[in-house]
Amino acid sequence: MYQKKQILEIEITDLGEKDQCFGRLEEGIGVFVQGPAAVGDVVEAEIFKVKKKYLTARFRKVLKPSPHRIEPICPYFGLCGGCKWQHMDYTEQLRLKRKQVQDALEHIGGFSGIECDDCLPAPELFGYRNKMDFSFTDLRYLTPDEVGIQPGEHKKPLDFALGFHAPGCFSKAIDIDHCALSTPEMNTTLNIVREFCLRHRNELPICSTHTHIGELRNLVVRHGKNTGEFMVKLVTTTHHPELMQSLCAELKEALGDRLTTFVNSTTSAKSTVAFGEKEFVLQGPGTITDRLGDYVYRISANSFFQTNTAQAETLYNQILKSAQIQPEHVVYDLFCGTGSISLFASGHCKKVLGVELLESSVNDARDNAKRHNVENCKFIRLDLKDIRDLEPDMREFGPPDVVITDPPRAGMHPKAIKMLQEMAPPAIIYVSCNPASLARDGQRLCEGGQYRLAHCRPIDMFPQTNHVESVARFELVQYTVTESESPLL
Ligand SMILES: C[S@@+](CC[C@H](N)C(=O)[O-])C[C@H]1O[C@@H](n2cnc3c(N)ncnc32)[C@H](O)[C@@H]1O
Repeated sequence: MYQKKQILEIEITDLGEKDQCFGRLEEGIGVFVQGPAAVGDVVEAEIFKVKKKYLTARFRKVLKPSPHRIEPICPYFGLCGGCKWQHMDYTEQLRLKRKQVQDALEHIGGFSGIECDDCLPAPELFGYRNKMDFSFTDLRYLTPDEVGIQPGEHKKPLDFALGFHAPGCFSKAIDIDHCALSTPEMNTTLNIVREFCLRHRNELPICSTHTHIGELRNLVVRHGKNTGEFMVKLVTTTHHPELMQSLCAELKEALGDRLTTFVNSTTSAKSTVAFGEKEFVLQGPGTITDRLGDYVYRISANSFFQTNTAQAETLYNQILKSAQIQPEHVVYDLFCGTGSISLFASGHCKKVLGVELLESSVNDARDNAKRHNVENCKFIRLDLKDIRDLEPDMREFGPPDVVITDPPRAGMHPKAIKMLQEMAPPAIIYVSCNPASLARDGQRLCEGGQYRLAHCRPIDMFPQTNHVESVARFELVQYTVTESESPLL
């Protein structure tokens, strides 16, 4: 009855999976709509997939706007995958973020009878990011108004782009000159680096995503929001000392004292990750600092640091509140990064054991503790998928009363969850930027009835995007750990 390319009129009633929206046609068939639709909109959409029970369609235009629809401020909205929710007012963004977490806990995790708390709003809605990662590609993504233009008539080169990958398109990037989530210094840097690299295209060709030949890979900028320090890191395949000196001089001229460090990282890896194997520091210390609460953290070029400084403090205070830490408690901080949560917790408990994969982050964490005269934190470098290797340190340190775990988007390795069950701490605080991972790992943790989900608080660290952070507390239900089960007994 329905066919590809058919045009539908549909009212959007909910979010669907994978960034889609959802509505139902009169006869009851569900339609997933891809593109910038908002709940409450009536839209025109074109079918591109027909299944027995549902249709998938591409958004074409709004016929009747949702009361929550607003005008996006960014010219790249709809193209760039970053701010997918700029067309919704902030109250609606918060409602949908909470709903995403609630739905994931119910539908993926199988949790029932749990009502998520409201999503905590962020203090800044734009310009809040302290780190941006721009990619170079030798295939520029064409904007809709450029499609059909003859190759010689384009205003910008087709084989040069510095910006963000279009969603689902890793070989091409949208060439952007401004991001609404960046600070002014970041946008200035983006344009200076672009101009410089275009002028030096012969010496610094873009590293091709297909052949992996070429030099320019990524531009990473970090801004210490509470200290004003500013780091530029250019990732290339090899180090070109003279060119890097010239670029650094141009940046210094434009930014003055605001540029506190410039690093050229080099890597020959095929992946597009903005990690360098070697670092050449051309200006400043090669690191920056930022302040959260009472603590000033040193952050190296490759280390993880929460990207929204103003909201990170809210997040860490929520973690402390959920953890109900007591002065006699032993706390484990898994995936501890630069030790920021560990330090926040250190003044409220007996001691903290932080575990992290990246050597640079562990060094930052140790340095951060030392600079604040914090003596009750110990940091260990370990891949948490090999969590069993932690047993000797755990025996020496003592079993945890609270484990705080803050894994990357993909969540925890099943072996690490099993080990948590064997450790059996009275409380586990799971911090996650991915509701699906939280729900899946939470379900594994609660399998067999050893743990229960006590509460979950979504927090908005990423306004204008469809991403949401959550802090969930899992509590040990009456359970006796036997000697053969626990590595600590
Ligand atoms: C979401 S960040 C959390 C960092 C820290 N808790 C914070 O708030 O700044 C995740 C951290 O886990 C680390 N990581 C990733 N995979 C890991 C692994 N397999 N074992 C240990 N740490 C890992 C990353 O380097 C990163 O520092």
